[in-house]
Amino acid sequence: MEKTLIILKPDAIKNKHAGHIISRIESEGFKICGLRYLKLSKADAEKFYAVHKERPFYSDLCSYMSSGPVIAAALQRESAVAKWREVIGATDPAQAAPGTIRALYAESKEANAVHGSDSAENAAAEIAFFFKESELL
Ligand code: RTP
Ligand code: MG
Repeated sequence: MEKTLIILKPDAIKNKHAGHIISRIESEGFKICGLRYLKLSKADAEKFYAVHKERPFYSDLCSYMSSGPVIAAALQRESAVAKWREVIGATDPAQAAPGTIRALYAESKEANAVHGSDSAENAAAEIAFFFKESELL
């Protein structure tokens, strides 16, 4: 069993898609190990997305991710990292396959509804960013 870290981004919360996305988490066979509703500070977002600090979209992305509440969750499933990325679709909703979460719910390439870890190694670091070991069930 593998874990991944997902975030329901500010647009998903604002547009009231959280319930649909959590339902999809369940129907796709993920177990919820940890769940938090919180607002990131700009400094938190900068730390979380530090891998992107040289990218042109980094500053806008960190402002965006700290612009409103988010839901962060640690999910478990067989091949959780790859499966969640399949379920969410491409970064840009215009490129995302029909039926994927980003195709259904994203506003734009930046406000794209959800985050997903891109490797099991990064998932472990991202889960530790949001959760203490004792908070994971
Ligand atoms: P994520 O990390 O959030 O799951 O998204 P991802 O792997 O599909 O995309 P990534 O390349 O890691 O980019 C992280 C987030 O930055 C925003 N972004 N904006 N304006 C742009 O060209 C642009 N490119 C990326 C998106 O919010 C993307 O999810
Ligand atoms: Mg990424």
